[in-house]
Order: sequence, then structure tokens, then C-alpha cells
Amino acid sequence: MSETVNRRWVLAQRPSGHLKDSDFELRRETVPAPGPGEFVVRVTHLSFDPTQRGWLQADSYLPAVKIGEVVRAGAAGEVVASNNPKFPVGLKVQGAFGWQDYCLTDGGGFWPTAPLPDGIAPEQALGIFGTTGLTAYFGLLDIGQPKAGEIVLVSGAAGATGSVVGQIAKAIGCTAIGIAGGKAKCDWVVGTAGFDACIDYKSEPVARRIRELAPKGVNVVFENVGGEILDAALANLAQRARVVLCGGISSYNAASADEIEGLKNYMALTVTRSRMEGFIVLDYAPRFAEGVKALAGWIAEGKIKSAEDVQSGLENAPATLRRLFEGKNFGKQLLKL
Ligand SMILES: NC(=O)c1ccc[n+]([C@@H]2O[C@H](COP(=O)([O-])OP(=O)(O)OC[C@H]3O[C@@H](n4cnc5c(N)ncnc54)[C@H](OP(=O)(O)O)[C@@H]3O)[C@@H](O)[C@H]2O)c1
Repeated sequence: MSETVNRRWVLAQRPSGHLKDSDFELRRETVPAPGPGEFVVRVTHLSFDPTQRGWLQADSYLPAVKIGEVVRAGAAGEVVASNNPKFPVGLKVQGAFGWQDYCLTDGGGFWPTAPLPDGIAPEQALGIFGTTGLTAYFGLLDIGQPKAGEIVLVSGAAGATGSVVGQIAKAIGCTAIGIAGGKAKCDWVVGTAGFDACIDYKSEPVARRIRELAPKGVNVVFENVGGEILDAALANLAQRARVVLCGGISSYNAASADEIEGLKNYMALTVTRSRMEGFIVLDYAPRFAEGVKALAGWIAEGKIKSAEDVQSGLENAPATLRRLFEGKNFGKQLLKL
């Protein structure tokens, strides 16, 4: 390994509201040498996920990133130095390597290091075959339990997770209605991802458009955004609908709970005898192989197309995370180092 400098983005302060450059600090350190059982990964690709905003803020389903700690992120890379026979030099791997050029690890932790599957590009390993595609798969099928002929409404439909949800819904014989921000995204959701319709929440009245497209109500809501968009969906539930609470990105930048609007239409769950349920994809880890196999099958049949939005340069990591909250990404947000 000839490189000696490891650039690392660490958390400089707890963010308040929208992410700022000053929330992060780029440090230059010496590339660490592996101790017994350890190995060093040269990071080649970083995954960007809205949940990273939460990891910077407070303890939740994972402990918060500490001030001064490297910013946590899923990543792919290659082993460049090793004292661990399971992870020899040259092996391509994925894990939670974080925003840095080189990661020293023993391969354990909440997100154990794993070899990249043969023939799968890092972009797809982190996207469609990573937690993104698996969130769509288990969230829709296990929590949403859609049946052929039902209507599935998906917010964040041009995003990494949402775009896959709608395509799975179509693959199993459902009608897929998306909600996304702007005409270009809605055109892509229908024209490329193959949804039946897409509502532009930036220029259309969402609740009214759902009612026009699904006069008898929607059977499954796959919610990525929350807030007003979730309220519009709740106002249009069919009897015994299933609302999959995958995420609520519209509130992730709120400086405090006071800035988050409450739901107005939650009693629709009672009237329609519906269910709203959250989940965390990591709970499905024992079944990930099942999800990867099913997704690979639909991709081979041409029923699912994966979309990746690849930025470049470690120096652009903070700006790349912000893209998710500015709605700049089409499909899975990645950054190549
Ligand atoms: N439960 C789990 O285990 C799990 C796992 C993975 C992801 N998630 C959740 O799934 C959701 C999607 O994640 P992803 O990785 O696929 O991200 P993504 O959808 O690829 O990117 C985020 C998108 O959210 C939209 N957005 C951002 N701010 C918004 C706002 N204020 N109002 C409305 N829309 C907004 C933007 O699309 P527009 O341009 O269309 O606004 C943006 O492109 C997130 O809520 C995430 O937390 C949950």
C-alpha cells in the first residue's frame, strides 16, 4: 500500500436543522496499520441514506455518531492490508466503512463486513441488492402484503427505495401510483420505472389527485416522506388498507419536534379498519438472501431497473448527503472515491 494519508470526515458538531458544512470536519491522518485479526479497506464507493441524518443527531435504533468520530455510512471497497485470513488483500468487500479513504476494521460490529457477491457491481451491491432494495422488498411484501389487483401508493417514488417499491408492485400485478417532486421526476417514474401514474406534489393537490386516480381508495401506502403527504394518503384509504411507515424524510431536518406538524387524518385508520406499521430493514438480515434472489430474478426478467446517481470525490460527501434533502437525486445516491 503506497498511500499514507487517510482523509476522514468526522462529525464536528450536532447538526441543527438543515445540514451545514460546519457540521463536519475533514481531517488528514496516517493510514492505520492492521493489528492482529484486523484489515484495512480502501473505500471506493459510499452509500447515502436519509437515515444518516438521524445517526448524526441522537441515539435511535443505532447509537448516534459521536463528535469527532468518522461519519457513519455504508460503503464498498477493497482490502489493501490484512492480518485476517477471512479478508485477504484484494478481496472486494462491503460494510459500514464511513466517510474516509481507508477503514481499519476487524470485520465485526452492527454491520459486519462481507465480500461483494460475484458479478455484482459496487453500485448495485449498495443499492438494489443492499439495504435500499431490501427495504423496498420486505417493507412492501412483508408489511404491506399487497395482493394482485390492489393499488399501491408510493411516496418518494423517484428515490432509491420508492422507485423499487413501485416496480415490485407492478411485477406482482398491482397498480402503482407514485408521488414525487417535479415534472422530470414524475415523467421518469412513469416512463422509465413503469408506474401507472405519478403525482407531482410540488404542483398538484395531492389528496385530490389520489382520489381521482383511486376513487375507491388505495390498498397499500408505502410511506417514505410523512407529514402532509402521509395525511393526503390517509384521506384516501380503502377498507383494511396497510400503511407501511418506511420513513418520514420531510421531518428529518426539523430542529425540534415543535417544527413537525401532527397528522390530521389519522382517524381514517379507524374508519377504514386499516393498519399503519413501521419496520427497520436490519431486522430482516436473516432473510436478506431471499430478498436478493427475488430482486435478481425480477432484474433478469427486465421487470425492475435499478437507477443510481453517482457523485464523485470524498471532499463532496457533505454536499452529497444534502442532495437527498434537496430532492436532487434520481434513484440511489452514491459517491465514488
Ligand atoms: N425503515 C427502514 O429500514 C428504512 C430503510 C431505508 C430507507 N428508509 C427510508 O426510506 C425513505 C427513502 O429513502 P431513500 O434512501 O430511498 O432516499 P431517496 O428516496 O432516494 O431520497 C430522498 C428523497 O426524498 C424526497 N424528499 C426530500 N425531502 C423531502 C421533503 N421535505 N418532502 C417531500 N419529499 C422530500 C426527495 O424526492 P423528491 O424530489 O421527490 O421530493 C429525495 O430525492 C426515507 O424516509 C428513509 O429514511 C427506511
